[in-house]
This record gives sequence, structure tokens and C-alpha cells, in this order.
Amino acid sequence: MKAVEIHHYGGPEELKYEEAEIPAIHPDDVLVRVYASGVNPIDWKIRRGDRQSDQGPTLPRILGWDFSGVIEKAGDKVTTFKAGDEVYGRPDIMRDGTYAEYVAVRATEIARKPQSIDHKAAAGVALAALTAWQGLFEKGQLQAGQRVLIHGASGGVGTFAVQLAKWKGAYVIGTASGKNTRFVEELGANEMIDYETTDFSSQVKDIDVVFDTRGGEVQQKSLTVLKPGGIIVSTVGIEDEAAIKAKGLRSAAYMAQSRTKDLQQIAELIDSGKVIPVISKIFPLKDAAEAHRLGEKGHVRGKIVLQVKE
Ligand SMILES: NC(=O)c1ccc[n+]([C@@H]2O[C@H](COP(=O)([O-])OP(=O)(O)OC[C@H]3O[C@@H](n4cnc5c(N)ncnc54)[C@H](OP(=O)(O)O)[C@@H]3O)[C@@H](O)[C@H]2O)c1
Repeated sequence: MKAVEIHHYGGPEELKYEEAEIPAIHPDDVLVRVYASGVNPIDWKIRRGDRQSDQGPTLPRILGWDFSGVIEKAGDKVTTFKAGDEVYGRPDIMRDGTYAEYVAVRATEIARKPQSIDHKAAAGVALAALTAWQGLFEKGQLQAGQRVLIHGASGGVGTFAVQLAKWKGAYVIGTASGKNTRFVEELGANEMIDYETTDFSSQVKDIDVVFDTRGGEVQQKSLTVLKPGGIIVSTVGIEDEAAIKAKGLRSAAYMAQSRTKDLQQIAELIDSGKVIPVISKIFPLKDAAEAHRLGEKGHVRGKIVLQVKE
């Protein structure tokens, strides 16, 4: 099969479009013919060699952990899906990924693809939407009527977080650069703050849940806008948990998990029109290096996707 692999950690030029073996499946896996693959920051973090604990198998390895496609073959123990099913999901990051014509993925990590969107749009959903869902609803326990502050509201995770928080009935405040504030309001944010011109910590207060996709100074300042007992949930890690606790606040860092049940609920929200995936650019699989160069700048609106099958 065709795949994009790395043989060495390093820059985007390490992404090689070449022949690779079709992966073997375990009894609880399905083999998926990948139609499109999402592109996510974890891809360049692993490509660069930043994530020692997530490096997974030895090199060469195939990057990409976000797909939409069609099941080619189901393992002997799989009863929930069969060949021909259109599915999407986020495979295990410790295994080879989805920048390839085929991927082996556990049946518990996939769901039926949303029917109202094509494979290219569906490929950008699983990783980012699961992250938003689990951060807001499991870690943050966000409730209707609460105030949530979402940093990076125009990004891959942020565009889902804004729409999911709105669907839940929360009052949604987001941060993004000026070119994106109107766009995120159209997605459902009640208020947007342009981080290039305005310090959010001087503008907002009484926040129940901060959803942090940035870390650093953004995380530090976010502590000043939380209500007593409020929670900061971060996709990039919590820097000083003890200091947060000492202020009477709560925090949670997490790694999103891929689960059929969560993916099903997300697909239903997409099919009912309550959540729309934002795909800003589609590259052919062979141009994965270009996709990384663009994504790594950190200012893509929504998602980048690689088209694998015409
Ligand atoms: N823990 C997990 O399971 C998990 C899962 C997914 C992602 N993550 C991590 O979460 C982070 C975000 O992921 P992502 O996919 O959303 O990334 P992304 O799509 O690359 O984020 C890009 C967005 O960030 C915005 N942004 C840049 N600087 C900002 C700032 N100072 N304040 C507010 N917004 C800013 C940009 O908006 P402008 O263009 O308007 O500047 C852009 O829309 C990454 O570090 C990723 O690795 C973790």
C-alpha cells in the first residue's frame, strides 16, 4: 500500500511517501481502507521526536491518528462491525497510523461515520471532537447555564469545543486572533476576545470551566478568571497543580480516549446539524509534508485533512 512514513525524527522533510506493508490485524481489530486522514498537532510532535512516552513502535512508522474509511475486513472477535461499514475513529497512538491506504484499528475505537458528511470532512472529526467532548463533559463536568472560557477557539479542538459547549447550554466565551473572532461567533460563541489586542484576564470573570489548549501564560492568567471552586481543564498539561489547589481551584489534564460510544454521540450531533466540522484545507496524501508545514505554524482555522482515496 502507499503510506507516509518517517524513518528518522525531524522536520517535515522526513515524511516519505512510499510503499509499506498492509498492516496485519488482531482478532479484536478491523482493517480499514482509509479514504481520508485528519492531521493533528500530535503528528508533528511525534515526527519531531518530542513525545518520548508516545513514540510507540520503532521507526519507520506511519503517522496520523484520525480517519474516515470503509472496513475491508473484521477480526475474528469483532461482532459490532463488518466489511463494507463506513467508519471513523482515532486509532491507538502507540500503533501505526492513518497516513496510509489501510490501517488496523481496534473495533472499540471506531463508530459509524456521520452520514451527512463525506469522508474528507469525517476524517477531521474523531481526535479533535473526542478531546473537546471528554475535556468539557467528563473532566470539566460542564452544565447548562455555566460560563466556559475556551482558548484556541478557532483551532481543531476549539471549533468543536465551542459548538459542544453551546449545544450543552453553556455561556461560551472564546479566544482567537482578530481574523477568526467573527467566524467563531458564527459557530456559536456568545463572546469572543481577540488575544492579539486584548488581555482576556482583564475582560472576563466568574468562569466555571476554562478549557485550555495553549498552556504557559494563557494557563497562568486563566486562574484569575475562575470562580472559587472552578476548574481548568487542559489538553496540554497542568503546570502547577499544587498552586491551583492552594487557590481553591481545581484542574485536570488528560489524554483523550477513543470510544465507540462517544464517537456515536458526536456523529449524531453532526447528522442533526448541531455540530459542523470545520475543514480549512485538504491535501493529497503524498503532500503530507506541506500539510505539516502549514499546521505547525499553529494558526489553521479548524482542521487540515489528507485525502487518501479519490
Ligand atoms: N490531550 C489530548 O488528548 C489532546 C488532544 C488533541 C489536541 N491536544 C493538544 O491541544 C493543542 C491544541 O490542539 P488543536 O488541534 O486545537 O491545535 P490547532 O488546531 O493547531 O490550534 C490552532 C489554533 O490555535 C489558535 N491560537 C494560536 N495562538 C493562540 C493564542 N495565544 N490564544 C488563543 N488561540 C490561539 C489559532 O487561532 P488564530 O489563528 O486565530 O491565532 C488556531 O486557530 C495542541 O497542543 C494539541 O497537541 C491534546
